[in-house]
Amino acid sequence: MQFTELIAERRSIRKYEAAVPREELELILSEARQAPSWKNQQTSRCYVLETPEKLEELRAEALPSFNRSSSANASLVVTTYVRNVVGFSDGTPTNEIGNGWGAYDLGLHDAYLILAARNRGYDTLIMGIRDADVIREKLGIPENEEIMSVIAVGKRAENPAPRPRKDLAETVRFF
Ligand SMILES: Cc1cc2nc3c(=O)[nH]c(=O)nc-3n(C[C@H](O)[C@H](O)[C@H](O)COP(=O)(O)O)c2cc1C
Repeated sequence: MQFTELIAERRSIRKYEAAVPREELELILSEARQAPSWKNQQTSRCYVLETPEKLEELRAEALPSFNRSSSANASLVVTTYVRNVVGFSDGTPTNEIGNGWGAYDLGLHDAYLILAARNRGYDTLIMGIRDADVIREKLGIPENEEIMSVIAVGKRAENPAPRPRKDLAETVRFF
């Protein structure tokens, strides 16, 4: 698929007909790993839910009802980053951003993930509205990782129109 077409076709999908087989998910997550990161420290982490029981449990207990229904039938990938590594040197923040750099790297990783999924015929929904405490407890995620998103990945069962974007003139300045 051409990259321009890929970008144009990607959108958040809130209706799925099927989850992603393990082998396909491994390929998508491998491609996400190719994202750049601060000093190549690769602090992004993924926790994949694939069994119906685990999926149902996490959906029921960690997602609000609108995200629960939007992600029905899809696989779920919880993404985190290891705190106090990226953007730090000997435990001291390199600049004012601090752990924001870990979140930045994870955002790049997740951008690769959603595009890699689309390229392989799957779609995604990034969900930032979730209960991190419940997710940590259910999946045993260590305290030194910041839980960011839950990403639904699956076969789309809807074809929404592209959502509008602000004009370039509103968001970009050339000097
Ligand atoms: C960090 C982040 C968090 C988001 N959280 C949610 C969410 O909890 N629930 C939801 O339905 N959509 C969520 N979205 C999806 C956005 O609403 C969506 O990307 C935006 O409306 C643009 O639409 P598009 O992705 O189809 O281009 C989130 C997106 C991002 C990047």
